[in-house]
Amino acid sequence: MKSLYVFTIGCQMNSSDADLFYRLLSPMGYLPTDSPESADLVIVNTCSIRAKAEDKAFSFIGRLQAIKAVKPGFRIGVAGCVAQQEGAGILSRVPYVDFIFGTHAIWRLPEIVTALEAGSGRIVDVDMAEELPERPDTGEMRGGVSDFVTIMRGCDNFCTYCVVPYVRGREMSRRPEAIVDEVKKKVAAGAREITLLGQNVNSYGKKEGLPDFPELLRMVADIEGLQRLRFATSHPKDLSDELIDAFAQIPGLCNHLHLPVQSGSTAVLSRMNRKYTREHYLERIARLRDVCPDIALGTDIIVGFPGESSEDFNKTLSLVESIRYDGVFAFAYSDRPNAKAADFSGKVPEKEKKSRLAELLALQDEITREKNEACVGKMEEILVEGKSPRKVDSSAITDPAAGDRVTGRTRSNRVVHAILAEGEKNPVGRCIPVRIDRALGHSLWGSQTGK
Ligand code: SAH
Ligand code: SF4
Ligand code: F3S
Repeated sequence: MKSLYVFTIGCQMNSSDADLFYRLLSPMGYLPTDSPESADLVIVNTCSIRAKAEDKAFSFIGRLQAIKAVKPGFRIGVAGCVAQQEGAGILSRVPYVDFIFGTHAIWRLPEIVTALEAGSGRIVDVDMAEELPERPDTGEMRGGVSDFVTIMRGCDNFCTYCVVPYVRGREMSRRPEAIVDEVKKKVAAGAREITLLGQNVNSYGKKEGLPDFPELLRMVADIEGLQRLRFATSHPKDLSDELIDAFAQIPGLCNHLHLPVQSGSTAVLSRMNRKYTREHYLERIARLRDVCPDIALGTDIIVGFPGESSEDFNKTLSLVESIRYDGVFAFAYSDRPNAKAADFSGKVPEKEKKSRLAELLALQDEITREKNEACVGKMEEILVEGKSPRKVDSSAITDPAAGDRVTGRTRSNRVVHAILAEGEKNPVGRCIPVRIDRALGHSLWGSQTGK
């Protein structure tokens, strides 16, 4: 038997691809291992979204050189978005890498590894395909209680800061039957919650003339044994009334939506090529809250986009204040290869970007804290994902003697660490009622209220 270690950086799409690497290589005798030192093959699954993510990949690859020096037969592969972007160029920086395969070469991974095992020299495969190959039905499903299924690849939106359309290629949707089939298999393997993934799920199926996204949601929600359904990511320009209505109509669909706004200034949004205005975004949020009053909202924000004035930035702060998100991912703008904004004038100095980022995060921290505190005393249903790794002083919990502590998420996607009721044995994979006892930073602590 041989062993495989995959190091993944980046978005959930990359994590989902990592799962596919394991599945594709398991029929060839590769078993997962938990450290690069104990592996025969290490795949570094890279992300190119910001310069920092790319640096992280190269620093990890650098660490592998020492293992390679002392371990005969040890192989290193580079996958993901940096592999697609740089191709053979990676070899000039890290010549000890054995193979490079791009985002469209994933399905050829078994052939590549077979060739290497047969003694071929280095392999570089970054060809891009016109069509999306269907995932071969191979290997074991490895996911947990909460799992992910990729429904589409690529992106056609060309936001001016973003590298994704260049490293993932054109938008392509998988056939609904293949998606339903994969979800069924994951449910049979123990998944109870599925998140459907794509860079812009709202436009699922449009190009191919397949059922649209709300229709796909209904097909997946009907699968027996699936308790919760989520999706990411949505683009505000394509968020239809029909999709908003789905939050009220589909019982399994969780009341949580991640809707990246990027900026609160219409002028900046226009230069970002986002194709919506601040007003349109606010109108969509108002309608969402009308249809589903307890919907939890998350977003992504970029600060310091070229030309962002302090007035523009204040508009972002005021938007965050008025929407009061449940969670915000905020990033300092970073120039990326091929992305148009790299050539824009009006670059914001690093120091200014950092200070804007800190101001925004401080505002959101305050909102998150207030929102978490408002949960105390309330009843929630959590889907138990496993034992809680977190420790808390016993005074934080009302009844520390009650039993084991587990971790799960509410339907609104809040993480809760909960003490189990007496007699409760193994609730992993089940939804249990909990009372929230205490809010701590970004997490909630509670106790099970019945069995
Ligand atoms: N498809 C999703 C998100 C893709 S990348 C969407 O359309 O929103 C995740 C987030 O990274 C983006 O939402 C954006 O906020 C951030 N991001 C992308 N490119 C960036 C860049 N060049 N600099 C800083 N942040 C960036
Ligand atoms: Fe990037 Fe924009 Fe596509 Fe999202 S929608 S992946 S931000 S180009
Ligand atoms: Fe990164 Fe590629 Fe995802 S650039 S964010 S891993 S699509």
